[in-house]
Amino acid sequence: MEVERYERYWMWAATSMLVLFTGAIVATAIAGSAHPPSHTETVDPETLTVSGEFASPGVSVGADGRVTVSMRAEFYVFRPAVVRVPAGRPVTFRITSPDVIHGFQVVGTNINLTVAPGYVSEVTTTFDTPGEYLAVCNEYCGLAHHLMQSTIVVEPAR
Ligand code: CUA
Repeated sequence: MEVERYERYWMWAATSMLVLFTGAIVATAIAGSAHPPSHTETVDPETLTVSGEFASPGVSVGADGRVTVSMRAEFYVFRPAVVRVPAGRPVTFRITSPDVIHGFQVVGTNINLTVAPGYVSEVTTTFDTPGEYLAVCNEYCGLAHHLMQSTIVVEPAR
């Protein structure tokens, strides 16, 4: 079969681009440890308010100095409503919901989680700048959705 010369060039060009782009995806996935969202830690939404980590949500500091914030997003409040964390250290937010889907977005950062009942949503970040950060629910969850917010107080590192 005779293929026109320019047709052949374009076929090679298109094939080269496919190989190049696929290679780039594989290379960055390996080099940057990129992976699809697959954190599927489950929790029983019926009992999480009476026992376990989320029954008494709050800030805890591990032996290695890592800061963990356990939170509940529930009908129109975040618990705790005010969170105090240090600047300049990794802070892991762990959030779940006992009722419906909520959101957790911290204004001025790239934290933006969907909080679904039955699952623990987790994100780790380091706040470099001390100050007060507003966290809001960004999934419509009911009549008082617009009132659902909390404050993250980032205290200067000591
Ligand atoms: Cu919770 Cu909107």
